[in-house]
Amino acid sequence: MIEVCVVGELNLDLILYGLPRDLPLDRELLASGLAFTLGSSSAIFAHNLCVLGTQVGLISKIGGDPLGKIAVERLSAAGVDTSHVKQGVSKTYTGLTVVLPHAQDRHMLTYPGTMFEMQYSDIDMDYVRGARHLHLGSFFLHRALRPRIPDLFRQAKEAGLTTSLDTNDDPEDLWGKDLEAVLKYVDVFLPNEREAKKITRTTDPSQAIDRLAELVKVVVMKRGSGSAICRAGDEHWSLAPPSVNIADDVGAGDTFDAGFIYSFLRGRSLEDCLAFANIAAAYSVTKEGGTEAFRDRTELLGFMRRQWALMGRETFFMNE
Ligand SMILES: Nc1ncnc2c1ncn2[C@@H]1O[C@H](COP(=O)(O)OP(=O)(O)O)[C@@H](O)[C@H]1O
Ligand SMILES: [Mg+2]
Repeated sequence: MIEVCVVGELNLDLILYGLPRDLPLDRELLASGLAFTLGSSSAIFAHNLCVLGTQVGLISKIGGDPLGKIAVERLSAAGVDTSHVKQGVSKTYTGLTVVLPHAQDRHMLTYPGTMFEMQYSDIDMDYVRGARHLHLGSFFLHRALRPRIPDLFRQAKEAGLTTSLDTNDDPEDLWGKDLEAVLKYVDVFLPNEREAKKITRTTDPSQAIDRLAELVKVVVMKRGSGSAICRAGDEHWSLAPPSVNIADDVGAGDTFDAGFIYSFLRGRSLEDCLAFANIAAAYSVTKEGGTEAFRDRTELLGFMRRQWALMGRETFFMNE
């Protein structure tokens, strides 16, 4: 039995570290380090939520190439149920993201591959209904599935599941209004600040969260190393993540989502959910990629427990 069903994309990330500040054309530019690791918002969320201690299953689509297989193996090794990851019959490859951190920023180049091809008929609705919670990552990357995402969420709500959504970026920068049809069925919405502003077509973060709070029960706005904000109706909480040494911030937002939903499903207060999410996300930035910090559960548990105590919070609730 799975507790959380994740519908979304599954691919690897190729990260090149130590590139020069500027990336001129036609030059041989050297990187000093490399990570080849599990990528994609939905898969990072599924992996890290599972390591925290939730039973997770992923519905996704890969190609017939070795990269898709490696991604599935990485998820299975963490305990995620990958029985509903389908291999497409077309010649399309599994997606891949190349991340180029340089100076204070990063380039992210994504080949969407099979993530553009997953469609509603690939989803086993009985499997979804068997879970307690549905999460979808990367709304704008599901080109074939997108028109049916409202339907998917509506059916999950009718079956009594709670739901969460993280749109991530819209590569087309259009931020279509069809998102609102999904938000009707979303219990926890988890955009970062830029996304929240783009979706609500404002440049003011507090206006963005006010508007989103009219559409969704719980809105959580992530703000990098700044304070994340949780808003539910008229109540709101704002909490800064612990400061840490940064390897890279790939997957920080997805790990934040995993921490939030882990606590949410354990019936914790929204303030506890926010605190726990911040600590989990801060830990993820201390190691490469989105999941490397979540491969050693003992170390993770130690960090989470120490930070929880430092924040002066009572009853730590992650199982040994
Ligand atoms: N430099 C950092 N130090 C500590 N925590 C961070 C840092 N960057 C991100 N985080 C944590 O990760 C969360 C998500 O980061 P953010 O970059 O806003 O989202 P996304 O990855 O979706 O763009 C933040 O709210 C925070 O909890
Ligand atoms: Mg994100």
